[in-house]
Amino acid sequence: MTAASPNSRPDIAELLAFYASAGVDEALEDAPVNRFAEAAPKPAERMPAAAPSDSRAPERPAQPRLDASAVPNAPPARPPISAVSDEAQAALARELASAASTLDELRQHMSTFDGCNLKFTAKNLVFADGNPDASVMLVGEAPGRDEDIEGLPFVGRSGRLLDRMLAAIGLDRTSVYIANVIPWRPPGNRTPTPHETEICRPFIERQIELVKPKVLVNLGGPSAKTLLNTSEGILRLRGNWRAHTTASGVVIPAMPTLHPAYLLRTPAHKKLAWRDFLEVKAKLRALTSP
Ligand code: URA
Repeated sequence: MTAASPNSRPDIAELLAFYASAGVDEALEDAPVNRFAEAAPKPAERMPAAAPSDSRAPERPAQPRLDASAVPNAPPARPPISAVSDEAQAALARELASAASTLDELRQHMSTFDGCNLKFTAKNLVFADGNPDASVMLVGEAPGRDEDIEGLPFVGRSGRLLDRMLAAIGLDRTSVYIANVIPWRPPGNRTPTPHETEICRPFIERQIELVKPKVLVNLGGPSAKTLLNTSEGILRLRGNWRAHTTASGVVIPAMPTLHPAYLLRTPAHKKLAWRDFLEVKAKLRALTSP
């Protein structure tokens, strides 16, 4: 990209290339939004204060209101999202997750939960794929573009690599169950924030508890860190058995390994993931043979 002088007009092609390299690959609304037109109206244009319905209530100054219909190309108004703290949203997620006694109920509770902002930019809830009775459950980080479109985890390029890795140890999507820590695609595939992870954590923890796999595979650092309660990096964690303990105290052996998207960028490390998958195969044989 060439350096633009402060007075030059922005080059649209360069700007789009910059957005694309920053991961901004999708418009969130059909129509562009003129953010300048959304500025708060001048005091004289403010709505008059409504007469207090309860004379005991202290009078508050009128709040400036935005009239979406006055903004050119404004998207249809969404119901206001109440300002509830992240902690309160995480508490609500915990309540909803623990109230689910089946995977179908959990999916239903997640689809009605509005406490994670990622839901509002995602196209679909990406709940799971595979066999809920499987002995192996794999957990990734968060859906990407293809997963968001299809509503299924690991269906893009990294999913195709994952399928080949599973096939190498005799497994496929009929014999494993796959989900993500975060079930909604972060816009532009950005890294989920720690708050978003904390809000979504109860759902994946309950999902693991309901599937009751014999073995858990953490695909990548974020899954390992979230579900194994560690801050160690994935290159140190991978290849060593850890434990995931469910809310009801069940201990599930967990193998942290490298994320397929990382392996696509770093093919020299595929041999490490191969070793980890062989460990999983051996553990399954030991746990399931009579
Ligand atoms: N990466 C993930 O972590 N999960 C998916 O579902 C796809 C890509």
